[in-house]
Amino acid sequence: MSELHDPNAPQATSDLANTGRMDVSAVLGDDRGLPLDDSVPQVVFDLNNVQVFYGDFQAVRDVTMQIGRNEITAFIGPSGCGKSTLLRSFNRMNDLIPGARVEGLLAYHGFNIYAPDVDPIEVRRRIGMVFQKPNVFPKSIYENVAYGPKVNGMKVNMDDLVEECLTRAALWDEVKDDLKKSAYALSGGQQQRLVIARCIAVKPEVILMDEPCASLDPIATAKIEDLMKELAADYTIVIVTHNMQQAARVSDRTAFFTADVDDEGVRHGRLVEYGPTRRIFTSPKDPRTEDYISGRFG
Ligand SMILES: Nc1ncnc2c1ncn2[C@@H]1O[C@H](COP(=O)(O)OP(=O)(O)OP(=O)(O)O)[C@@H](O)[C@H]1O
Ligand SMILES: [Mg+2]
Repeated sequence: MSELHDPNAPQATSDLANTGRMDVSAVLGDDRGLPLDDSVPQVVFDLNNVQVFYGDFQAVRDVTMQIGRNEITAFIGPSGCGKSTLLRSFNRMNDLIPGARVEGLLAYHGFNIYAPDVDPIEVRRRIGMVFQKPNVFPKSIYENVAYGPKVNGMKVNMDDLVEECLTRAALWDEVKDDLKKSAYALSGGQQQRLVIARCIAVKPEVILMDEPCASLDPIATAKIEDLMKELAADYTIVIVTHNMQQAARVSDRTAFFTADVDDEGVRHGRLVEYGPTRRIFTSPKDPRTEDYISGRFG
């Protein structure tokens, strides 16, 4: 439960303290002109009854939702409810896990990304991913960013592209004189920004982030959060986070997942509630969402 509460968070005001609900009103981002109802103006991902299995085990059940363009969507919910599993299905990363399979329809701009003629490598170029632990390559800072464009045969001025991506990732000023240094010489927070620079170097449209700040200190976390908000002008971002203050601060829309236990005692992840972040945090419709965000569960 402690992970749900950010020690740096503002104290709950008395009326909210009475309900036990976390006071996110002080940290909720602005609504960026998005509708406050559940409509998604520009749909990037359209999921219809998406199910994800590992062999016979169904990890995720019946997810139907739409992800909006240039929005930041947060996935929250207790450990094991399938957030990472579902996120990985957005760019066919589960293909790399033996026995994993996706059923239902997961459409990206109207195309089924699991159709037989779709190239998963191209899917992953358009839909990039950033993990909890910054997975920098054992190469120089420069080469980390240049790697994807080179592999993809992009005809670009590489120096310009490396500078542009490091600038977009809010890292340029810190590394511009050390581009030949090993990426391992960077701090964790810098490495995570380098991974983001590497991710955007191949010109994706979507960035999936699975607990990108989980291994970072509060200052590095704040930098990544600011960066996410800036990047949302050009990219669609889906983030998994255990930090509800973070979900409230950065996301436009929040999806709350939980795990139901079936008759055989097996736990399956399920989407409970999805909507504009402000509504999910201030007036959730489902009591399970209310319990989770108020810290009574999870
Ligand atoms: N590679 C795998 N093979 C088999 N089962 C898996 C695999 N990865 C995850 N699972 C199972 O799928 C379910 C969902 O796991 P997942 O990692 O997606 O949850 P999560 O919501 O991301 O949890 P956390 O918050 O702890 O990261 C769990 O029961 C987990 O044990
Ligand atoms: Mg996870």
